[in-house]
Amino acid sequence: MKRERISTILKEPQLGEKITVKGWVRAFRSNRFIQLNDGSTIKNLQAVVDFENFDENLLKKITTGAAISVTGKLVESLGKGQDVELQVESIEIIGEANPEEVQKTVMQPKKHSLEFLREQAHLRFRTNTFGAVFRIRHAVSYAIHKYFNDNGFYYIHTPIITGSDCEGAGEMFHVTNFDLNNIPKNEDGSINYKEDFFGKEVSLTVSGQLEAELAALALGQVYTFGPTFRAENSNTSRHLAEFWMIEPEVAFNDLNDNMNLTEDFLKYVINYVLENCKDDLDFLNERDKKEQASKPQNKRSDMTLIERLEFVVNNDFERLPYTEAIDILMQSKPYKKKKFQYEVKWGVDLQSEHERYLVEKHFKKPVILTDYPKEIKAFYMRQNDDGKTVAAMDVLFPGIGEIVGGSQREERLDVLKEKSAAFGIAEKDLWWYLDTRRFGSVPHAGFGLGLERLVMFVTGMTNIRDVIPFPRTPQNAEF
Ligand code: 4AD
Ligand code: MG
Repeated sequence: MKRERISTILKEPQLGEKITVKGWVRAFRSNRFIQLNDGSTIKNLQAVVDFENFDENLLKKITTGAAISVTGKLVESLGKGQDVELQVESIEIIGEANPEEVQKTVMQPKKHSLEFLREQAHLRFRTNTFGAVFRIRHAVSYAIHKYFNDNGFYYIHTPIITGSDCEGAGEMFHVTNFDLNNIPKNEDGSINYKEDFFGKEVSLTVSGQLEAELAALALGQVYTFGPTFRAENSNTSRHLAEFWMIEPEVAFNDLNDNMNLTEDFLKYVINYVLENCKDDLDFLNERDKKEQASKPQNKRSDMTLIERLEFVVNNDFERLPYTEAIDILMQSKPYKKKKFQYEVKWGVDLQSEHERYLVEKHFKKPVILTDYPKEIKAFYMRQNDDGKTVAAMDVLFPGIGEIVGGSQREERLDVLKEKSAAFGIAEKDLWWYLDTRRFGSVPHAGFGLGLERLVMFVTGMTNIRDVIPFPRTPQNAEF
């Protein structure tokens, strides 16, 4: 008998058909009603058993978490909560689950804390919340590829092992095959990387941008979408040591084109989720309402999750230079009442508390800040005519803070050389990047979106560890 997936059955129910469904038991009530889930949708299929017709020992094995196969006829359901149900004719137990053991896991159907769920990251896929989050994460990834493909971008696979620190923050994980107890040294005691696997010092990439620029300067418009690593020792709710970044790069674009692309792209992806993930989004919307009601002091918005997504899709992002943002912050109530923990003055990097004030309190919508002081941004950003700022842009989202960082790139060889020297980057390490400015250099721009931050926004989850299947954070790489 052909196996049907529950999502298909519920979308186009073929009443009277005999079908087989395989999945995991979510609940078994009154020795009669099985709630079966196969992961294809957040919805369960109700399978109805006439217990008189089945062996008692078999029925005993239909417990929460067990994997079973049921075959029967699909009929209209007279009960509340579902339109159709399966009248079970035969049952096969595929994998048993010991009820006492299940009691101790997140599969036990009751409310669990997200912290407890994180300790069981291998099992949390079985819960409604995480099923919804990871189906939506898939949809977001698909929409990203679709957007770029439909708009004539090429997907470039940039290396994971690299010798360059694109962001210059020194937050790199080293890659080596040295015996760590016996590292070859030079005469002066320094490490002899010539003897290492690649003959030089290399790390896991913090960004695919530099390589993407090379591709953009030939293929016109490209994007990367890959794992990204940062040894940033910040144990916050929005930082991971391993995350996924999307980085488009477009030849002949300036900062304004870059902002237009970012805004159009983000709205497309969010709208895709609104249109294609209805069941999961409805569930997370209810979850978010309850969360917000239970923590009024941390309430992020007067809007529901779905309203927040619709709001972003339907409204223009606010665009303003960093300098104006500093003025706004210095006029703000929290500044005057000394409520900000971190300093505000021209030249400092904005902290999340400042970004959130601008987005959530002042503008009440996504904000694109541009033209930051050159000292606080990376070496590759294009120098503005004022000599003080660079053509940078950060997109700030409600409840998240920075979701995108990007810029127009410095395309002038002499200025770029000066900048890299000022940032202490040796020309011999970056010759291949500088070369592109020697042969038909053109203005170009791009940005980086943190996938997990976008998934946080569209699911309403407030900790980044809950939107990636297996989070890597300081002191944590279990599973
Ligand atoms: O602002 P960032 O550091 O920009 C770059 O890496 C550029 N090379 C991008 C480019 O222009 N092509 O990082 C971009 C985004 C951030 O806005 C944030 O969303 C995400 O990547 N991000 C992180 N997400 C999770 N955990 C971390 N530790 C992150 N660091 C950055
Ligand atoms: Mg940034």
